[in-house]
Amino acid sequence: MPDFPTSVQLFAGTASLELGKRIATHYGQHLGPLQVRRFSDGEIYPQLVSNIQGAHVCLIQSTYPPADNLVELLLTIDAARRAQARHITLVVPYLGYMRQDKAHHAGSPVGAQLQALLLVAAGAEQLITCDLHTPTIANFFACPVQHLSSVDVFLPYIQSLQLSALAFVAPDAGSRLRVQPYAEHFNAPLIIGTKQRNVPNEVATLQLQGDVRGKHAIIIDDIIDTGNTICEAAQELKLQGALTVRALCTHPLLSGKAYETLAASTLDEVVVTDTIPLRQHSPQIKVCSVAPLLSSALQSIC
Ligand code: R5P
Repeated sequence: MPDFPTSVQLFAGTASLELGKRIATHYGQHLGPLQVRRFSDGEIYPQLVSNIQGAHVCLIQSTYPPADNLVELLLTIDAARRAQARHITLVVPYLGYMRQDKAHHAGSPVGAQLQALLLVAAGAEQLITCDLHTPTIANFFACPVQHLSSVDVFLPYIQSLQLSALAFVAPDAGSRLRVQPYAEHFNAPLIIGTKQRNVPNEVATLQLQGDVRGKHAIIIDDIIDTGNTICEAAQELKLQGALTVRALCTHPLLSGKAYETLAASTLDEVVVTDTIPLRQHSPQIKVCSVAPLLSSALQSIC
């Protein structure tokens, strides 16, 4: 029997439809038909409408809140498995619950691990994702994980600014490794922050170590949620003499009053990717797409 090549079919869930279309365009395909209906009570009912028997199915969906986005993905994986897809690859540009990467206190959950268990139990065979909160989250998945970095997206952007006298800022110790490649690439100083939180999202104290006088400061972070971290850091950087302050953050959750918080801040520019769609347009926020990065990763495996 000749071994026919497995056809690849891409599908995007409702949380990542626009990004899914961009990925598919770079990949050189159209998205396959995925119909997501709801029962009257809100229960989700996704259906892969084309014949996927024997195909390599790639499902694109970020799992930012609401949790329905995760449930929709789980149900779609189940649908693909039952329809006899040969392989199931997930493209989850933003992996929700990833800030719960360890049990911080007795009685707290490890949400990232639970999500990994659920996705693999549903039938995921490999995962492509971007900027995990900590790289060790990849180990929660009992399947291969391609962990991509937005360095490949943000470096060319910073280069295009043609700024001299740069300084790169890690707003907390956890983001030091994320910022280091930028500082090394531009041979620029690395400013390390010490952030203390008493409750999630509220910044109790933020101190920055390093000299930013006369420099263009660039804060690098994985997530903007309320915006409090980058706005506090920007204020401190300007107080310490930074000429301009930009924040380059991969995942724009931008919850609650984040847009207002950013608009009222001293930040000169905020650059994010499209792993999560923006709720509203803002002249202060620029979007660099991760679609070429994700599409190349897909091309390397199918
Ligand atoms: C925290 O460890 C993350 O890396 C981000 O700094 C954090 O999630 C940002 O949250 P917020 O925008 O609410 O300060």
